[in-house]
Amino acid sequence: MPPLRRAMALALALALSAAAAGGHVAVTARHPRRQLASGSGRHNDSTTTAVTTLGCRSKSNRAPSIVCVSHSHATSATVARSKMAAAADLRASFREVLLSRRRDLQVPLAVEHGSPVKHPLYQGSPPTGPSEAMESCPRKEVENFREKLIEENFYIITESGEQGRVPVLLLKINDTTPKRKPVIVLLHSSYKCKEWLRPLLEAYASRGYISVAIDSRYHGERANNNTTYIDALKSAWRNGDTMPFIFDTVWDLIKLGDHLSEREDVDPCRIGITGESLGGMHAWFAAFLDTRYSVVVPIIGVQGFRWAIDNNKWQARADSIKPLFEEARIDLGKSEIDAEVVEKVWDKIAPGLDSQFDAPFSVPMIAPRPLLLLHGADDPRCPVSGLQEPVSRAAKAYEEVGSADKFMFVAEQGIGHQMTANMVKQASDWFDRFL
Ligand SMILES: *[C@@H]1O[C@H](CO)[C@@H](O)[C@H](O)[C@H]1NC(C)=O
Ligand SMILES: *[C@@H]1O[C@H](CO)[C@@H](O)[C@H](O)[C@H]1NC(C)=O
Ligand SMILES: *[C@@H]1O[C@H](CO)[C@@H](O)[C@H](O)[C@H]1NC(C)=O
Ligand SMILES: *[C@@H]1O[C@H](CO)[C@@H](O)[C@H](O)[C@H]1NC(C)=O
Repeated sequence: MPPLRRAMALALALALSAAAAGGHVAVTARHPRRQLASGSGRHNDSTTTAVTTLGCRSKSNRAPSIVCVSHSHATSATVARSKMAAAADLRASFREVLLSRRRDLQVPLAVEHGSPVKHPLYQGSPPTGPSEAMESCPRKEVENFREKLIEENFYIITESGEQGRVPVLLLKINDTTPKRKPVIVLLHSSYKCKEWLRPLLEAYASRGYISVAIDSRYHGERANNNTTYIDALKSAWRNGDTMPFIFDTVWDLIKLGDHLSEREDVDPCRIGITGESLGGMHAWFAAFLDTRYSVVVPIIGVQGFRWAIDNNKWQARADSIKPLFEEARIDLGKSEIDAEVVEKVWDKIAPGLDSQFDAPFSVPMIAPRPLLLLHGADDPRCPVSGLQEPVSRAAKAYEEVGSADKFMFVAEQGIGHQMTANMVKQASDWFDRFL
């Protein structure tokens, strides 16, 4: 069987089609402009993290107005309301964790001019050549593509201090129609940088998207040398004052959402997010927290952190940032890294990652926004056994709101921790279909 067919054959039926359980969804126009509803009353800034009741119209029904999604069944309305309240609460808790380690609670959203990076920093061996997967994203033939491509390099300021300056690379075609374009935010994997994503950025730009990449914290322009990321992880373990693993970059992505939503060339209802590995984790958590990310494709990123600890499957994940766990092992006086070391590290550097915000709880809260999870069936860092619970919970959440067709989980057979050309194509098709 060709790989794509094989992958599709394996696409766990869990996610697919089960007849929409109750809850007919009605869509009605409500406000002339997009509005954001606060679900918690605990907000203290412009950051939108508890949006639940109002949002953008879905693709099949799009119009330049705001919609309210309501359920016609009394029972499903009650279920939906309690789910929304639960989602708002979990988002508020996550937002509080993110806020707890900001240098300043809030800085005004500011943009600074940047310039192209001539020698991008890879922490480790730089790539030796083009990657088949990266080059495989569908492109559209655009006459004089190079001349028509507009490249923007800039920084958005998300907090004070060196790491509070997020380098952004944005590509789009120079044309005026449509005036507001859909956006794809692409996020790189560990030790890489935004420049690595250029083939994907160009492919999406050729097809009329605005494509955007950032350097994650302690990566690319936010790093000085080969150990910056590892140094930051160790420092967080020692001092507990930053969250270099996933969470601080999620904060940046909320601010990026603020920036994108304000741009005149962006359709704020059509911002998609995807990423590979660490970038997949960033896409997952940013979308969980910020509903402005309206179509979501984490690639080899979602995993059960608690499941891995409870099932002795944490090793491959720990190995990807091993010096951190070595340091913790020594501090804890152990002869080898074990589940307790792993648990203590997560608690210190990413509180809640292996408990309340873990995949079984946060992934379903991306519903009803179109969500595609792409994985390798043999990936030791994101073992598929650990995805059973989050995937079945998510499938249920999508069914409950009559959106079973907007959730899909694919595990590609014979593939480990690797983003394949199939995954790139499937992500691309998903965005074309839903964004
Ligand atoms: C809001 O943020 C300011 C600092 O920006 C802080 O002084 C104030 O206590 C915060 N209020 C709440 C309700 O969190
Ligand atoms: C980082 O390490 C790689 C090889 O391990 C080397 O090629 C590269 O030059 C180093 N970069 C820096 C900035 O030290
Ligand atoms: C876009 O194209 C127009 C001509 O069609 C040109 O005048 C303008 O300078 C271009 N903008 C950029 C940013 O390249
Ligand atoms: C690497 O960069 C970090 C900061 O990004 C710094 O703390 C560290 O001292 C640097 N290491 C070396 C060997 O220069």
